[in-house]
Amino acid sequence: MTQKLNAWAIPRYGPPEVLRAVTPALPAPKGRQVQIAIHASAVTRADCMMRAGQPRFARAFLGLSRPRKNLVGTGLSGVVTATGPDVKTFAIGDTVFGESGLRFGANASHICLEEDSLLLKKPDNLSHAEACTLCDGPLTSLHFLTQVTQLHPGARLLVLGGSGSLGSAAIQIARHLGAEVTATCSNRNTETVASLGAQHVIDYTRTDVAATGQTYDVIYDTLGLSSYGQLPQNLASGGRYICPVLSGKLLCSALATGIWSRHKAQFSAVGLQPAGQLRDLLAQVLILTRSGVLTPVMDRSYPLADLIAAHRYVETGRKVGNVVVF
Ligand SMILES: NC(=O)c1ccc[n+]([C@@H]2O[C@H](COP(=O)([O-])OP(=O)(O)OC[C@H]3O[C@@H](n4cnc5c(N)ncnc54)[C@H](OP(=O)(O)O)[C@@H]3O)[C@@H](O)[C@H]2O)c1
Repeated sequence: MTQKLNAWAIPRYGPPEVLRAVTPALPAPKGRQVQIAIHASAVTRADCMMRAGQPRFARAFLGLSRPRKNLVGTGLSGVVTATGPDVKTFAIGDTVFGESGLRFGANASHICLEEDSLLLKKPDNLSHAEACTLCDGPLTSLHFLTQVTQLHPGARLLVLGGSGSLGSAAIQIARHLGAEVTATCSNRNTETVASLGAQHVIDYTRTDVAATGQTYDVIYDTLGLSSYGQLPQNLASGGRYICPVLSGKLLCSALATGIWSRHKAQFSAVGLQPAGQLRDLLAQVLILTRSGVLTPVMDRSYPLADLIAAHRYVETGRKVGNVVVF
């Protein structure tokens, strides 16, 4: 009997309810592909935005009228179940984790990925649930704090959105790099954010960061909450405003400050970096998790069959750290 793949498709852009469970035939790995039985996959804000086709200019990459690749999910962890004839790096039985990137299809029972894609062997001390989240918050924040800007020991960093996937990873990485970390969150998350290492925690529901008069060498706006133009008085001389959420305002600020300004506003898309560079960065994330510097913050998990509920929850914007499906 032909083995089936359990996956989720997005036939059109829209709310979580557009997601459809599908069961096509399980593809066999070709050439340098490995087939992976997925044990856990992440459900991220970026996954929800891609499902919704937002922001609209992202459709230039995703498909203009409907998603070009109609499967959903990017971060995954599992076990290699078959290898193509030319595979050299992995063997059947290896536990692996990584990201499918613009191939999508990680919220599924199986996937076939090229062996030189963003895929690494998973150490035993890391659960599949934790491993599948490493390409979201940890990889993105390591990229922003060490490559977009070079955070140096003693630098004063403000993390806007300290309880999210990116923010919770950023606090841990920045403390490891020797920065003095201030993070914003709501009252319900202040203990979590302080326990991650933030030396100063600002409850954004009570205090307006822009009005505090404090200055920072780097402001990492993980949620795209403020525009660069709202915070110049909070940037120290030569300071940087870095943000992973692209908007028209951010693009204009990045272009303007790139030409003339002692401050800089910067955006980067991790997924558009070369695969080899991302693999090296993910290997660094792995070193940080192995040495206990970085522990992914886990919120809820759902059965794969309840992916619609997982998307509804993630889309509330209230998750603390990461959400996964099994
Ligand atoms: N450029 C890239 O390469 C890249 C890569 C990955 C992700 N991203 C983007 O990065 C963004 C962040 O994703 P994420 O997963 O970190 O977000 P998230 O986990 O969904 O953020 C949710 C958290 O933000 C907190 N929050 C909500 N409003 C806040 C406010 N005004 N001030 C401070 N905290 C607030 C919430 O806590 P309360 O409910 O208690 O407030 C909640 O804990 C997404 O837009 C994603 O698409 C970009």
